[in-house]
Amino acid sequence: MPGAIYAEGLVKTFGDVRALDGVDLDVPEGTVLGLLGPNGAGKTTAVRVLTTLLRPDSGQAVVAGIDVLKYPDEVRRSIGLSGQFAAVDEYLTGRENLRMVGQLYQMSGRDAKKRADQLLERFNLADAADRTAKTYSGGMRRRLDLAAALVVSPPVMFMDEPTTGLDPRNRQQLWEVIQDLVAGGTTLLLTTQYLEEADHLAHDICVIDHGKVIARGTSDQLKARTGGERVEVVVHRSDQIEPARSVLAGYGKGEIAVSPHTRKLTVPVTGGAKLLAEVIRDLDTRGVEIDDIGLRRPTLDDVFISLTGHAAEQAKADEAGPTEADRGRKESER
Ligand SMILES: Nc1ncnc2c1ncn2[C@@H]1O[C@H](COP(=O)(O)OP(=O)(O)OP(=O)(O)O)[C@@H](O)[C@H]1O
Ligand SMILES: [Mg+2]
Repeated sequence: MPGAIYAEGLVKTFGDVRALDGVDLDVPEGTVLGLLGPNGAGKTTAVRVLTTLLRPDSGQAVVAGIDVLKYPDEVRRSIGLSGQFAAVDEYLTGRENLRMVGQLYQMSGRDAKKRADQLLERFNLADAADRTAKTYSGGMRRRLDLAAALVVSPPVMFMDEPTTGLDPRNRQQLWEVIQDLVAGGTTLLLTTQYLEEADHLAHDICVIDHGKVIARGTSDQLKARTGGERVEVVVHRSDQIEPARSVLAGYGKGEIAVSPHTRKLTVPVTGGAKLLAEVIRDLDTRGVEIDDIGLRRPTLDDVFISLTGHAAEQAKADEAGPTEADRGRKESER
């Protein structure tokens, strides 16, 4: 039986760009799928197709047991969506925004008020509840948008980069809200650039790039694919990077990654703690001062880099200006 979110062969092109190039997904009920991929991979496009906002060129999708292409209105009634670009009304207060959503979903005025108050509390917006959303900071807007998506607790939720721009405390709180939702039976598809978030929340992970699924599995399965442990060294001074590199070259089982501004070198190894002790002795003999050294398992970041050829964080850093995806979108809307 297909899961609560099911897609087969989704294709969506924008001119020459194949934003989705045959995507299959199957998310069992009550689980979280983390959809990962670099900027422009097709994540938002997939979310838009599955939430009826965009028609695919071909393929099928079934959400909450309902055919997305045949019965979009019914699908809309069964899902919640929090988008990458917040959908709050700037001229309403936080409280009014949430009540309005409740009323759109046919709640009584009283229930809508009660739910709005709960959510304002839960998302740390109670103090700002009666200010217009226009005066909110970026993080506050994002929280209001998420709260709006949770006014009714739909069986299937989509969250496109829910915690981008949230500070660590608010991110942690949102994780708790998400865990509660899922414990209550909600199925969630979440896109994120924070791999730690996917690691923490997602039962299954699907990595896409150029509109295609390039890997899927649990976080542990993906890490196992990337290979064993690595030694990570932070040297005390920049001029010690090269000597450290030549030491590590004698122990490594693969390419040495160097991050010059953090003075960090990372190399895949086999041999565990015994090898680590040898590396430390060797570095010491060559006079390389160490700020930090350790043995660690691959992180989801390592997986991401090995699969897509670049880091998610780097992709984020590139977002100082509009992303490729935004640019594409703006152009097509003109
Ligand atoms: N409305 C549109 N018109 C033209 N091109 C579009 C449109 N929407 C998306 N694209 C293009 O489709 C591709 C996938 O975009 P999408 O927004 O799905 O990426 P994404 O994975 O969500 O990226 P990001 O991490 O930056 O949010 C990009 O090349 C983008 O430019
Ligand atoms: Mg996106």
